[in-house]
Amino acid sequence: MSIKKVGIIGAGQMGNGIAHVVALAGFDVILHDVDPERIDQALATINGNMSRQAAAGKITEDDVNAALKHIGKADTINDLADVDLVIEAATENEDIKLKILKEICPVLRADAILATNTSSISITRLAAATDRPEKVIGMHFMNPVPVMELVEMIRGIATGDDTFKTATEFVKKLDKTIAVSEDFPAFMVNRILLPMINEAIYTLYEGVGNVESIDTAMRLGARHPMGPLQLADFIGLDTCLSVMQVLYEGLADTKYRPCPLLVKYVEAGWLGRKAGRGFYDYRGDEPVPTR
Ligand SMILES: NC(=O)c1ccc[n+]([C@@H]2O[C@H](COP(=O)([O-])OP(=O)(O)OC[C@H]3O[C@@H](n4cnc5c(N)ncnc54)[C@H](O)[C@@H]3O)[C@@H](O)[C@H]2O)c1
Repeated sequence: MSIKKVGIIGAGQMGNGIAHVVALAGFDVILHDVDPERIDQALATINGNMSRQAAAGKITEDDVNAALKHIGKADTINDLADVDLVIEAATENEDIKLKILKEICPVLRADAILATNTSSISITRLAAATDRPEKVIGMHFMNPVPVMELVEMIRGIATGDDTFKTATEFVKKLDKTIAVSEDFPAFMVNRILLPMINEAIYTLYEGVGNVESIDTAMRLGARHPMGPLQLADFIGLDTCLSVMQVLYEGLADTKYRPCPLLVKYVEAGWLGRKAGRGFYDYRGDEPVPTR
């Protein structure tokens, strides 16, 4: 089977980035979100980001115009009936993802592939809740999708060879490099990255450094392009907390316990850049540390 039309569920920061690269690669793509405003925001973001890429000479105006023609809205989940591939990119919460999978399966053709962009949740467990475990796969894009070269591909225990082949061929057409991970909590990238970010938050919580000194230390001392707290804000603190909870529960090891300060920021709704405030306050001209 070859992929021609893609449906994306969840039009947040990842959903819009995935739609962007999928449309630029010449596939038809439709975006769905439980909140219709998010779809319009995503379309505006894609427009802005593609224009910026064109202004920087990375793509041409013709590329932008052709790509924008490939992108549409799916007002209801039923509008996804004719897609060959669904990429689920909704909030990192297992109950939400399970609900989406339950709703989407009866709508889809029997041969349609279901990919999830989850950062951490078991592909095997999500697949088991569907009518097609052999057609479910983890397709973990990195943020920001148009810039980052990697897609981590995760096979659940039941993922079929055909599904894996079709999905990897599709990802290669997006000009991304694949790293294949076994299906264990948080896979490879976030198994390594998120405990580092959580440790940076502990470093802040224990008063070893403040936001600025911790980020400066890791940018200049470890050559990280972004400090860990800046990166946490960029990922979204709700997503960071959710990944740590999956690691903590899934591997049953206290070394993964989420920092209470991370929990507090999430409870405050200070979710990082997307909320206007996290470890930095983004509401002014320049980000200002909140601690
Ligand atoms: N942020 C990152 O750096 C990053 C990187 C890789 C993967 N991911 C994963 O991508 C997924 C999305 O993350 P994000 O950063 O885009 O989050 P986000 O908060 O920006 O967007 C999530 C979107 O999902 C929508 N949504 C919630 N419930 C829904 C439902 N029932 N049906 C349809 N849409 C629904 C929300 O309205 C929102 O627009 C998560 O699984 C996350 O772990 C995130």
